Amino acid sequence: MVFSVTSNTRAMNIHELGTLFFELYGHNDQSPRAYFAPGRVNLIGEHTDYNGGFVLPCALQFGTYLLLRQRPDKLLKLASTNFEDKAEYDQSNGYIKQQGRWINYPLGIFQQFEVLGINLPGFDMLYSGDIPNSAGLSSSASIEMVTAYALASVLSVTSLEMTDLAMLSKRSENEFIGLNCGIMDMFAVGMGSADHAIFLNCLTLEYKRVPFILNGYKLVIANTNKQRGLADSKYNERVRECREAVDAISPHFSINHLGEIGYMEFFKIQDVIEDERVRRRARHVISENQRVLNAVAALHKNDILQFGALMNASHESLRDNYEVTGIELDTLVEEAQKIHGVIGSRMTGAGFGGCTVSIVKDEVVDTFIREVGENYKQRTGLTASFYIAEVSGGPKEILMETF
Ligand code: GLA
Repeated sequence: MVFSVTSNTRAMNIHELGTLFFELYGHNDQSPRAYFAPGRVNLIGEHTDYNGGFVLPCALQFGTYLLLRQRPDKLLKLASTNFEDKAEYDQSNGYIKQQGRWINYPLGIFQQFEVLGINLPGFDMLYSGDIPNSAGLSSSASIEMVTAYALASVLSVTSLEMTDLAMLSKRSENEFIGLNCGIMDMFAVGMGSADHAIFLNCLTLEYKRVPFILNGYKLVIANTNKQRGLADSKYNERVRECREAVDAISPHFSINHLGEIGYMEFFKIQDVIEDERVRRRARHVISENQRVLNAVAALHKNDILQFGALMNASHESLRDNYEVTGIELDTLVEEAQKIHGVIGSRMTGAGFGGCTVSIVKDEVVDTFIREVGENYKQRTGLTASFYIAEVSGGPKEILMETF
């Protein structure tokens, strides 16, 4: 069997998109403007963001394009090359979540702009993304951020900086979509920079861009292609369990978030958490936080082997303590780690399906894709997809002379 390096979702090129835009919405005296925001992959620091901890993600070459043109009325006309579902939404009626529809992601952003008192006209909008959906590579944060960035740009809202747009997108996800996620995805999408990972303290939002250049290695993403059933409710359950851990610890050690307690301190007092499952959740978060710090130190020393070892340890903890991996992610990681020349492999994103990320020696990338793909298929019956990640920049306007 041949496994190709592929993205399973193709974005149209910008000229094809322009043609489609006019087919959908016709011509008038205004040209649409075009924007792009990337997806992200998290290198290490999983399920730490909503615990006020550290993360180390980077932006990807994949992302979401948006073409938009202002309308004289309050209508939002929304279409995407990734979904059949088109919509015509009248903003005069407020913003109401539409059960199971992708347009909730842009609608939530419009609502957040309205909350800020920004007067919103209608728009004709066409989206196109090449981030695989539900793969844990932040296709939703990419839609949110491209919408927020484009709105701020076309409406000349100069008071909103990139970090404000990330915060606003997070609020939209928490309040409109109903996922209690942290800030990592939107921040990584917004602050992405070529050849750099973003080392972010999710409590203070202080961040540093850390050079991430893999000489002689590639960052390979493998997609389980597993349908993620109840991922959102399981995610929210983990958020609740971490809250329970904070409640158990805080009478003994003053904290509001698990990220505020160090590794050694936690091990001294962990028995105050009576529920063994909740104790393991906390153990993951607190040890993962330390792994991020160690990973950043390893990058500064150019010690990629140490970085890989920390990735492996991260997966183990997500599997045994946090229980967010599952047979598909574990199989991909196990098969990856068997290959000579793979120095680290772990699940990335929320888990429960989605993708793994591995650091693979240049000369074994083909073997990796073939062997991991074949063994995964044999063990799970599913076909994995593989992508070579290029660490890329953040949101931008794409200047077009003509469409
Ligand atoms: C999802 C969420 C993020 C983060 C990760 C797990 O991607 O959107 O906020 O919690 O899961 O690290």
